Amino acid sequence: MFDIHSHILPGIDDGAKDLNESLALLKMAQNDGITHMVATPHIHIGRFNNSAKALNNDIDVLKREALNAGIDLKLAVAAEVRLDIELMAMVMAGQLPFIGALDSVNYLLLELPHSHVPQGYDKFINWLSKQNIKAIIPHPERNRDIQANPFYIERLKQLGCDFQLTASSIEGAWGDTAKAISIDMLQKGLVSYVASDAHSVKRRPPLLSNAKRLVTDLIGELEAQHLFVNNPQRLTESLFDE
Ligand SMILES: [Fe+2]
Repeated sequence: MFDIHSHILPGIDDGAKDLNESLALLKMAQNDGITHMVATPHIHIGRFNNSAKALNNDIDVLKREALNAGIDLKLAVAAEVRLDIELMAMVMAGQLPFIGALDSVNYLLLELPHSHVPQGYDKFINWLSKQNIKAIIPHPERNRDIQANPFYIERLKQLGCDFQLTASSIEGAWGDTAKAISIDMLQKGLVSYVASDAHSVKRRPPLLSNAKRLVTDLIGELEAQHLFVNNPQRLTESLFDE
């Protein structure tokens, strides 16, 4: 399986605290059947000011350490980018790492605030489209505005966004509403990716296999294979070395 959303780089956001925790997360992922992992640290202006250049360096270090620790997992880096008007300058300067590309369109893992859908989100997403960038919205099922007004899902879809669910939401770890929205989106074919959003071994572990079983029961093996393997594989092909 491919896990395209994880906070496994040590000490740069609210994910893995140090190298030991990063390696523990990688081992856990490998044991769960994950073969490819994309580190997606937060780029959240004013809170986590990570830059593409530093992240490329950090992933090289982690790759070396994983190899030394005997971990057989392919690693790549992108970012989870918090929606902010100031991102426009970073886009224009080519400073934002994309999560991948499909048919010559770049994809950005674009995070909404957890509490709400900010005003002007639609204008910003339209502006991204004009720059040949499509948004993948991570964990829409956990956003409180979306939970209260599922209409936002349709609106975001109309704007050209794709969606990535959190694996543990499907298992019910984020409450009944997040689970119900996840199931509804899966049944309506609105989900393109499922990922762990791993932050730590205990709090949010890098596990996908149980969620994949649940998705298989819900919408069938072929569709589950698309969400956990084929879709993320196609999207992130250019990020991995081989
Ligand atoms: Fe995340």
